[in-house]
This record gives sequence, structure tokens and C-alpha cells, in this order.
Amino acid sequence: MLKILVTGGNGQLARCIKVISSKYLDTHTFSYKSSAELNITNKAAVLREFESGAYDYCINTAAFTNVDGAEKDKDLADLVNRQGAKNLAEASNIYNVVLVHISTDFVFDGAQSVPYTEKDPTNALGSYGSSKLKGEQAISLICQKYFIIRTSWLYSEFGSNFLKSMLKYGRERNELSVVFDQIGTPTYAMDLAEVLVLFLKPNKVDYGIYHYSNEGVASWYDFAKAIFEINGISVHLQPIRSDAYPLPAKRPSFSVLDKSKIKKALQIEIPYWRDSLIKASKALK
Ligand SMILES: NC(=O)c1ccc[n+]([C@@H]2O[C@H](COP(=O)([O-])OP(=O)(O)OC[C@H]3O[C@@H](n4cnc5c(N)ncnc54)[C@H](OP(=O)(O)O)[C@@H]3O)[C@@H](O)[C@H]2O)c1
Repeated sequence: MLKILVTGGNGQLARCIKVISSKYLDTHTFSYKSSAELNITNKAAVLREFESGAYDYCINTAAFTNVDGAEKDKDLADLVNRQGAKNLAEASNIYNVVLVHISTDFVFDGAQSVPYTEKDPTNALGSYGSSKLKGEQAISLICQKYFIIRTSWLYSEFGSNFLKSMLKYGRERNELSVVFDQIGTPTYAMDLAEVLVLFLKPNKVDYGIYHYSNEGVASWYDFAKAIFEINGISVHLQPIRSDAYPLPAKRPSFSVLDKSKIKKALQIEIPYWRDSLIKASKALK
């Protein structure tokens, strides 16, 4: 039996892992710890959990994920996303645990016009991206056995996300404006959860950084348009530029991820984002 600790156990991605892991329960035991049960910024608590749990893997989904909030709460974003990741890396080394850590496309500045590979230089624009990047750097410096999976634009039937916000606004309003000058790939967190479980196979995949999102490319406007079409919601959608809707955090204008490495390593095909959006919309109904 492989023993797996999932941090941030009440979050969107952890709840997707819970659904997917039901297929693996004869070979894997998953322990989900909410922020109240295991605060990853508390190193003593992390060490105690690793010692008593005798885990083989830790999937770290815990993070300060409020991108705009991180501009105001820089210290807290740093504490959770950098120091928390560092605590897990140190505990993983001591207790011989493989760390599977989730990171973000926001480690890039968006200056490229071709999809980002794992080897491309990072340069985060805001506090959230910068704290996540420092978390990655701490792990890659300290941890002997780690996978860092960078992903983008997560949504699902769980938690708060763009899909659920658009469905709510679409039902409340006749007209909406959404930015069309930020390009990336929406990713169904359930698809990511399926892929994360594939990393839980001893000595099968080389340690290091991997990119995962759904296939294809969209702007937030395209994503919103597809949400309304697929869910039969009639709303007048206005494409706007980011400078017409100023937010505290600057975001990359282009953050499409190149997934060649993960596809080869895990021998997987990745679903197209619109097909996954149809699946998620059905799951929500
Ligand atoms: N959502 C996206 O669009 C997106 C895109 C790219 C990458 N990612 C990355 O994907 C991962 C999962 O994101 P998600 O969408 O599942 O986020 P989420 O729904 O916000 O879940 C994050 C979880 O982390 C928990 N947490 C916060 N501080 C903690 C701490 N100090 N100790 C332990 N747990 C703590 C939160 O608990 P509380 O609610 O109790 O605070 C929450 O349950 C994160 O690493 C995120 O950076 C997300």
C-alpha cells in the first residue's frame, strides 16, 4: 500500500483528487489534511505529521491562491507559498517522502509568444507568482525527490473558480465584460488530478518540473463565451482589454504551457479544454 498525504485538503484540487483516488483505494491510502488540521507554515506540525503518517508521497495543493489578495498580504503569501513549500521539502528529505508540488503559469511574465517549456526563464509579475516561484526554488534546492507540476486557470465543480463565477453572473446579468488580452489555457482540475495520481509510481518518472494544462489556447473572453454557449445561457458578452478592468495584480498576457515533457514521460493524451469544460459543466448539473 502506498501512503499519500494531501495538504490543503478542502481546496478545489484536493477535492478533485479525492474523487479520482477512489479508483486507486486497493493500492493507495490517501490522507487529506485541511489547513486547520495541518498548517504547512508550522514546521513542527509538518514534521510531526510526516513522522506519524509514514507517507511515501505528499501532494501539496495547499497555497495562498488569491492572486490580487497577495498584493496586499505579501507576507502571508510568502509564508504559505514559499516557507510552507520549504517546510514540506525539508520534511520530505528527513522522512524519505516524494513531494508532488503544484505551481503556476504565473511564474512567467508572459513576454513570450510561443508556449512556455520547463526550461524557459521565469519572471513572475506579481506577489502571488513570485511567492510560488520562491516555493519552487526552495523545493528544487532542498528536496531530493520532487515533482513540481505547473498548471494554469484551474476550474471544477468544487470551490470558487471562473466557471462558477461566470455561471452565477450569467444568470444575474444581461451584459458582461471579460478581458480578451490575456491568453492561456483553462484546465479542468479533475483532469489534473487524474494526471497527479500517475506520478505516484515509484521510480517510473524522472524527478523535476513538468507543465500540465488542458490542450488548446483561449483568452478569458473565449473561456467565458464557451461557458455560456455550453450551458445555454444568453448574455451579451463584451471583450475588453485588461487596462479597462484594472486589478491589483499584474498578470501575464500570454501563459500557454508546453506540455511535451509530461506527455512523453507519462505517455498520456491531454483533453482539449473545451471538451473538458463540457464534462465539468455536466458534473455541475
Ligand atoms: N486555481 C487556479 O486557477 C490555479 C492556477 C494555477 C496553479 N494553481 C495552484 O494549484 C494549487 C491548488 O489550487 P486550488 O485551485 O485547489 O486552490 P484552493 O481551492 O484555494 O485551495 C488551496 C487550499 O490551501 C489551503 N491553505 C491555505 N493556506 C494553508 C496553510 N498555511 N496550510 C495548509 N493549507 C493551506 C486552503 O485552505 P483554507 O481555505 O482553509 O485557507 C485551501 O483549502 C495551488 O498550489 C495553486 O497555487 C491554481
